[in-house]
Amino acid sequence: MPAATRLIIDTDTAGDDAFSLLLALRTPGVRFEAVTICNGNVDFNQQAENALYTIEVAGRGGDVPVYLGSARPIMGRWQAAEFHGTDGMSEAGFPKAAQRPHPRHAVDAIVDLVMRNPGQITILAQAPLTNIALAYLMEPRIAAAVKHLWIMGGTDNDVGNITPAAEFNFFIDPEAAKIVFDAGFPITLSTWTLTLKSGSLAADDVARIAALDTPLSRFFMTVSRVPRERALARYGAAISTHPDSLTCACLLNEGLILESADAVVDVEAAGELTRGLSSIYPPRLVERWPDRDANARIIRTADTRGFADMLAAVLK
Ligand code: RIB
Ligand code: CA
Repeated sequence: MPAATRLIIDTDTAGDDAFSLLLALRTPGVRFEAVTICNGNVDFNQQAENALYTIEVAGRGGDVPVYLGSARPIMGRWQAAEFHGTDGMSEAGFPKAAQRPHPRHAVDAIVDLVMRNPGQITILAQAPLTNIALAYLMEPRIAAAVKHLWIMGGTDNDVGNITPAAEFNFFIDPEAAKIVFDAGFPITLSTWTLTLKSGSLAADDVARIAALDTPLSRFFMTVSRVPRERALARYGAAISTHPDSLTCACLLNEGLILESADAVVDVEAAGELTRGLSSIYPPRLVERWPDRDANARIIRTADTRGFADMLAAVLK
């Protein structure tokens, strides 16, 4: 029997963040240690309520502590992403969950969990990297003590989703991203480029989930409504994009990763047009930085069918 995956998910819970939480909450073999809330998609306190409600709707109310982290980026100016609706849940108007946030700060909780369990804690960072960067600045030893850090963010030398140059998570807090990629964490990176290539469910997959007609499939259809409408307007197809949930699925089942490569990753924090840009290239390829070693594994292709099956399985 393989050891359980001991997991912390750092999240700006809205839309697909919630489906990522559902995968962790309802996939066997996960010891879900903590949810930590970071600034990002929508109002910070609303994000916390979205996480608490998702835990409750998954039938796990009270099982996973939710810690509040940084409500603002390190240097950036927070701005909402309306992609998931103003409440982040497609204006669902869900009630408040019974569970309340844990009184401890998220950064303290991350440092404590990782340092008390060296080599055992996996972190999924599916929000701006503010909490992860602050945890590292508080205790640099977490970079060596964490089992693995999975990050959803950036693009793979591609057009962004919040500006032409940048993906949302890295755009909101590029200083934090720069700190994290320079810290020495063992990192696997899942980009927005991967989302569009391997992490977008077509209309027939969405219809398959709708046809399940269970409380969680109805939750999925409600929460994904606005992003699907936005995707239709933006991409001309009613696809359901899953940056965070695809990353979580690959974390839980690395067999979904079909192609990956080690690369050097750095993040632009100063550019007028390029703030938040993720610079990704093979080590020792470019003249200016000939001796920079790879600091991340980049997922280049994932198994969309396998992902869709994993997601459908937890919505039954
Ligand atoms: O750019 C994708 C990221 O922002 C994901 O974490 C998702 O939450 C989106 O809002
Ligand atoms: Ca997110």
